[in-house]
Amino acid sequence: MPWRKPWVDPRMDADGPALREKLERRAYEVWISEIMLQQTRVAVVIDYWNRWMEKWPTIHELAAASGDDVLAAWRGLGYYSRATRIHDAAKLVCEDLAMKGLLPSSVDTLVAKVPGVGRYTAGAISAIVFGKAAPMVDGNVLRVLSRQLGLLGDVKRDKPVIDLLWAAADSLVKAVAETSCEECSYDEKISSATGEQISDRPGRWGQALMELGSTVCTPKPDCEACPISTSCRAYGEGLQLASTRGLAP
Ligand code: ADE
Repeated sequence: MPWRKPWVDPRMDADGPALREKLERRAYEVWISEIMLQQTRVAVVIDYWNRWMEKWPTIHELAAASGDDVLAAWRGLGYYSRATRIHDAAKLVCEDLAMKGLLPSSVDTLVAKVPGVGRYTAGAISAIVFGKAAPMVDGNVLRVLSRQLGLLGDVKRDKPVIDLLWAAADSLVKAVAETSCEECSYDEKISSATGEQISDRPGRWGQALMELGSTVCTPKPDCEACPISTSCRAYGEGLQLASTRGLAP
């Protein structure tokens, strides 16, 4: 039987403070990691992220930190405006009476309310933390989907193609969220006292696509190692490289 429960905002349910605190911490952790991962490799980010969380385990502690300390913790990661923006946003999220430190769960509200959070980061937080069927599409995912669907174009510049791929990612993650899978018994779900559950399927799905794009479906792909090559339109037609270069002269 498909696993499907209506969405209920977990902040409203009976687990109360414990669940709220858990979500607040996880949202903060995922937010920081996603911002660090923009432009920086996972292997480099891990130590920075661990040191950051030791120093400021909660968003409230980050909000109370000095700007100089935040910049010092970011030293070496580059793109320093990211650190300043995170710090300013943490203060705002903690001071806002509707949020009180808990990042919003919907993509639209995240983008509207949290400075520096675009649709990619919002999708990651919404899906990974809150289990919502939100797409998270970075450059690697654009390349994977472009090849899978045979939507060939320049995935860095071709806006109509990029928009189509986002729309496809949106439909796919919604389908993934609604299907059940016998083999997915490892799914970790946060269960509330009212029995509502937060699925980790959308988050796992989005991260699996990112991982595939960064390890296998790279600009020079290893199609022999790809677990989804049989359904890949570009592979079937021998057009794997055309999809990243674009077909325009
Ligand atoms: N690769 C796998 N998961 C990821 C994530 N959550 N963010 C960025 N890259 C990833």
